[in-house]
Amino acid sequence: MSASIAAEPAPGRLVYTRDELLDSGRYEAPLVAGGVRCHGGFEADGRYRSPRTIHRAPALRAWQAQLAREGNALIEVPRALMPPQYPSVEQSTLLLEHGVRDPIVRTLTIISIVEGFGALIRDVKVPDLSALVVEPIGGTALAHLAGGLFEAHARDESGFKDEGGHKQMWEAARDLALDKPKIPGDVLMRLMGRNAGRRRTERPFPQLDETLERMLAMMAQVLVVEIFAAGTFDWGYRLLSNPQLSAAPEAAGAIVDHIRTDESPHVEYLRTALSEVRARTLRTVDGRTIAGRRVVDGLLHGILLDTTRNRRSDQRDDVRENLAAAMQVAANPAALLQEFDALETAWTPPRSTGFESEGEVGTASAS
Ligand SMILES: [Fe+2]
Ligand SMILES: [Fe+2]
Repeated sequence: MSASIAAEPAPGRLVYTRDELLDSGRYEAPLVAGGVRCHGGFEADGRYRSPRTIHRAPALRAWQAQLAREGNALIEVPRALMPPQYPSVEQSTLLLEHGVRDPIVRTLTIISIVEGFGALIRDVKVPDLSALVVEPIGGTALAHLAGGLFEAHARDESGFKDEGGHKQMWEAARDLALDKPKIPGDVLMRLMGRNAGRRRTERPFPQLDETLERMLAMMAQVLVVEIFAAGTFDWGYRLLSNPQLSAAPEAAGAIVDHIRTDESPHVEYLRTALSEVRARTLRTVDGRTIAGRRVVDGLLHGILLDTTRNRRSDQRDDVRENLAAAMQVAANPAALLQEFDALETAWTPPRSTGFESEGEVGTASAS
């Protein structure tokens, strides 16, 4: 045994089976959230380990290391682009202190529903990538999307078999912290209505194979959702772990913390695979090629522009639709509304998304 072997670890393995990427390994103890058996579990030292990561986590590190060795950048979405949560932690605290729980229960329920929508990821069609990408893709995250990465993501979000996923974990955190609150009956309907009202835009890259374009657009969209969810989860953690507001600050806070830990592989596989596309060349349907960078940056730019400009006002409009009615349970609703509004902070999205093509920064056409 020479010391140099230990000092220079072999490059990580780059090819994995579907079973490996879905394998959670053995846990010392399972995770039970609010009486519901959930995914993931605890090591002998008490540390939480996310589900399906014993191979997925080292695989992601190996694919990222390979990207770096090839001199290619890993996509970074600047945190400054993240619109703040509405209502803020301060505004939400004020509401809960006055017994106004409906807006908070709604938001927490929307989070759990959106997590459950993650099941749709397993239905995303993956085209024959080796035919559509000019350069080889063996041993990349991209080559493993259909081979376990999408399925692992779907299971993490919506649960699998008898194990709850993030959907059930958020429900448990909400019910523990707010003592099984009454859930407004129209949360799902309103969420669906809002999404149905979204304008459909034209295909940004009609020269691409349509299945490929859809898959990349979905991945870019989910990446942005996953990254921006960090702000929402931070909001949830601060409220549900606050002993002044929560009936189970430790248990509910721990659940949200585990969810946050589980989100990391989602962000990482999506940005790794998109970065791999960005470093390659794509074939178009008319027999030509287009730089992957143009496609990935173009998709991210469009999604970030839309999200940074609209998400905060969408969220604000949605909350305010019921706010005055919800405040009627307070002793002095008018005074409470005034105090609530006084806590509002302005937010202006940054001018640049960081993914503009040259000469596009801050142009009028972007609005
Ligand atoms: Fe999640
Ligand atoms: Fe996620």
